[in-house]
Amino acid sequence: MNPDKIIENVFRLPATVCCKELFEGIWPIPNGVMINSYLIKGSEKTVLIDYVKDWDGAEEEVNSELDELNIKERDIDYLVVNHMEPDHTGALVDIVNKNPGVQILCSKKAVPLLEAFYGLTSNIHAVSDGETLDIGDKTLKFIMTPNVHWPETMMTYLVEDKILFSCDGFGSYGIYENSFDDQLTKEEWDLLLPETERYFANIISSFSAFCLRAIDKLETVEINAICPSHGVIWRDHPEQAVAIYKRLASYAKGKREKEITLVWSSMYGNTKTLVDSVIKGIESVPGVKVHVLQVPQTHESYVLEKAWRSEGIIVGMPTYEYKMFPPMYSVLDQMDRSHITNRKIARFGSYGWSGGALKQFLPFVDSMKLDFLGEVEYQGSPSEEDKKKAFELAATMAKQIIEEQ
Ligand code: FEO
Repeated sequence: MNPDKIIENVFRLPATVCCKELFEGIWPIPNGVMINSYLIKGSEKTVLIDYVKDWDGAEEEVNSELDELNIKERDIDYLVVNHMEPDHTGALVDIVNKNPGVQILCSKKAVPLLEAFYGLTSNIHAVSDGETLDIGDKTLKFIMTPNVHWPETMMTYLVEDKILFSCDGFGSYGIYENSFDDQLTKEEWDLLLPETERYFANIISSFSAFCLRAIDKLETVEINAICPSHGVIWRDHPEQAVAIYKRLASYAKGKREKEITLVWSSMYGNTKTLVDSVIKGIESVPGVKVHVLQVPQTHESYVLEKAWRSEGIIVGMPTYEYKMFPPMYSVLDQMDRSHITNRKIARFGSYGWSGGALKQFLPFVDSMKLDFLGEVEYQGSPSEEDKKKAFELAATMAKQIIEEQ
């Protein structure tokens, strides 16, 4: 891609990582992901905010954009490390090697990580919350936002122009031809909104309380544009990015959608047979939406996206070797790690020779503080009575969701 001019002397340097890669080595990105660095040319000093990893050509892409702006490594006075995760720092050493005098600015917690990851120990200054940096005609202010996404995270604010460089915060999956929110096509919006939700559910959800704390802290900061390190720049309606993140982070506390995520898996079709009854049970209650996902055919990244926003979860899985069918164990384990807590849950599923899935399922109910409404379990294929029970169980969950909200 090309550098984007945000305002005079402030540029985005976008890198695109494409579709066959896995984000964090685990999450599918069929629509790719952008890794944005930002260049600020002050009248006296030049600053690069966040960088990239040598990943799918990202480093070459950003370097060619720097070339286009006629900036060499030696021209960079300060490297701001908002966040240490290697998608933003993996190639940092390449700049330091070409410009040993460059000053790295980061939070105090990032300092030992710079040594642990990259052996960097000199020319590092740990900035404090609210500290400013004068680069001539512009001033940068550093705002500590721990755990958005890891403990050392901070954001950088360009004071004169009211631009917030937020790194992972307000980010999303997806590659977008257009750079700014006011330029996006309908197709790009249709990609951006769900890919923001999936990114949040995969990456940020565990840190929702910190995210809300950061949003509260930013309330006193006047913001003309939000420049995240993943996704598009919000300059027309930065408050929309904040509102989306506030809504998503608030799901942790209970203000969720009237939706049920039905995630199911089946070996020979005997668990699948009840899926229709469950869907009909949910749909018998107007106002409750159902998301249906089959695993392992659908990656759990997408299950997390839907489960995160849903008030209810119904899981269907058979017993497999006296335990849960393994793909569903993996889904529940990931939901637990992602702090998908305090929702309603129910289960259904078949067994052949012996049950056992429930015994392995119940510890997840405890760990995630779920409200377990019951189960329909049967040997072999389900009877008409089992189908009726599954319909009723699903309808009960849906009614409770309507009544309690
Ligand atoms: Fe984009 Fe937490 O790194």
